[in-house]
Amino acid sequence: MPELKKEPKEKVTVGDEVFIPLLTEDQIQKRIAELGEEIRKDYQGSVPVFIGVLNGSFIFMSDLIKCVELDCEIDFFKLSSYGDEKLSSGKVKMLKELNCDVDGRDIIIVEDIVDSGLSIKYIEELFDEKNPKSMKVISLLVKPESLKYNVKIDYIGFNIPSQFVIGYGLDYSQKYRNLRSIYVLRDETSIERPLQTKE
Ligand code: IMP
Ligand code: MG
Repeated sequence: MPELKKEPKEKVTVGDEVFIPLLTEDQIQKRIAELGEEIRKDYQGSVPVFIGVLNGSFIFMSDLIKCVELDCEIDFFKLSSYGDEKLSSGKVKMLKELNCDVDGRDIIIVEDIVDSGLSIKYIEELFDEKNPKSMKVISLLVKPESLKYNVKIDYIGFNIPSQFVIGYGLDYSQKYRNLRSIYVLRDETSIERPLQTKE
C-alpha cells in the first residue's frame, strides 16, 4: 500500500509563484475539533442542516461534521462570481441549487473562506427568503482586512492576512484543493486572483 504523503511541503510552486505553509494539517484538525464541540453545545436538542458552499468547502464540511456529535443533515449548493477580482463588485450567480427544504430548520452555512464578504451577503439574502428557523455562518478562514460587506461570521476557524491561499479545498485555477495543509503566496506583491470562476 502506498504511504500517505507527509505534509506540509516546504513550498508549493505554481509557475513562477511560490506558496509556503500557513496552517498545517494538525492545526486545522485541532481547530475543527474545537469548532465542532462549540456547535454541539449551541445546537443541543436541534437537528441542524449544514449547507456547504461548493466547491471550496467540501473538505472542511466533511471534517467538520465528523467533529459535531449531534444528529445533523447536509446539503450543498454552488455559486460562482465573475469579474475583475480587484473591484469588489463581482456578481454572484447560482450554479447548483439546494435540494433540501430549510423552512423552519436551523441552518449552518459552511464556507471555506470569507474575503470581501460578497458571497456571504448574497447567501444571507438568499436564505432569508427560505424561512429557516435560524441561520448561522461558519468559515474556516476569514480575511478581516479584506471585508467590504457588513456580514456576521458566527464561527471562525482562523483569521488570516489578506493574501491568496491554497489547499484544503481552496483552489488556484481549480487546482491544489487536494493539499492537506493551507499554503500562502510568499510574495505579497505578486498576489493576483485568477480572473476565473471562483467557487
Ligand atoms: P468573497 O465573496 O469575496 O468573500 O469571496 C469568497 C470566495 O472567494 C471564497 O468562497 C473562495 O472560493 C474565493 N476565495 C477568496 N479568497 C481566496 C483565496 O485566498 N484562495 C482561494 N479562493 C479564495
Ligand atoms: Mg467558497
